[in-house]
Amino acid sequence: MVGYEPTVGQWEFHRAKERFRLLCAGARFGKSMAGGHEILWHLLMPGSHIWTAGPKYDQASKEFRYCLDALRKLKAGGLPIPIRRVVDNVLAGQMRIELDFTPDGREGDPEYVSFLQAKSWHEPDTLLGEEVDLLVLSEGALCPRSVWDRYLRARVGSRLGRVVVPTTPHGVDDFLYPLFYEPAMRGEKDYWCGQYGQIHQAIGQKVLRGSTVETVEGAGVVVDSPMDQVFAYLDDPANADVFVEAARYQRAGK
Ligand SMILES: Nc1ncnc2c1ncn2[C@@H]1O[C@H](COP(=O)(O)OP(=O)(O)O)[C@@H](O)[C@H]1O
Ligand SMILES: [Mg+2]
Repeated sequence: MVGYEPTVGQWEFHRAKERFRLLCAGARFGKSMAGGHEILWHLLMPGSHIWTAGPKYDQASKEFRYCLDALRKLKAGGLPIPIRRVVDNVLAGQMRIELDFTPDGREGDPEYVSFLQAKSWHEPDTLLGEEVDLLVLSEGALCPRSVWDRYLRARVGSRLGRVVVPTTPHGVDDFLYPLFYEPAMRGEKDYWCGQYGQIHQAIGQKVLRGSTVETVEGAGVVVDSPMDQVFAYLDDPANADVFVEAARYQRAGK
């Protein structure tokens, strides 16, 4: 009904149950769309407090808009979505959605009001005060560690909130790498990290067909498209660095 069919990588992200999730992939992988739908599912739980934060409101607005579009589609499809307020003004930095699930003909009981609020970490004094159940850090690799330490971390303290970081990797960063990526790589229980390269993107966009597999060297991808499609993909100079080795030939034993 929301017109969102997650790709393989997006599914892995949604299915992960860890409290801190890092989704690393290139531009147009579908990170923001996945983030927006993750927000949607939380927002539909009465009483959820959610922030989507980015460097500027512009970045945070991506997830916000995907979520708002999906809500509107659900409503148009006949679901009784109790939208109480929508403010959608990126330029003014005012972006908020409120849903009111208060029962018995009453309204506005804070226990039943869910909200999504967009934030910009360029305006740190707006990052104080509230406690959230879900914090989405759009393009989180650009977030300075001081902002995380001083403002954001405390927002997910008392409600044991979850943190989702859809981001393109930006090389050296002083915050995600030690605080999210490394714990996930060590297999710490509350941390998850999905890293998706170009090949996942091609599969997501149906340029190639394939699926994820576990190999002794880590997560891999099996591509099972017809060979002419695979060669067309490899011939495209844009994909020059996707494969180190494109084929390995072995004579079938007798
Ligand atoms: N599962 C999906 N099904 C269809 N279209 C998708 C899907 N995921 C992403 N898209 C489309 O791909 C484009 C890039 O998605 P977006 O989430 O903005 O990418 P990113 O944040 O990774 O740069 C958008 O036009 C979006 O609508
Ligand atoms: Mg994005």
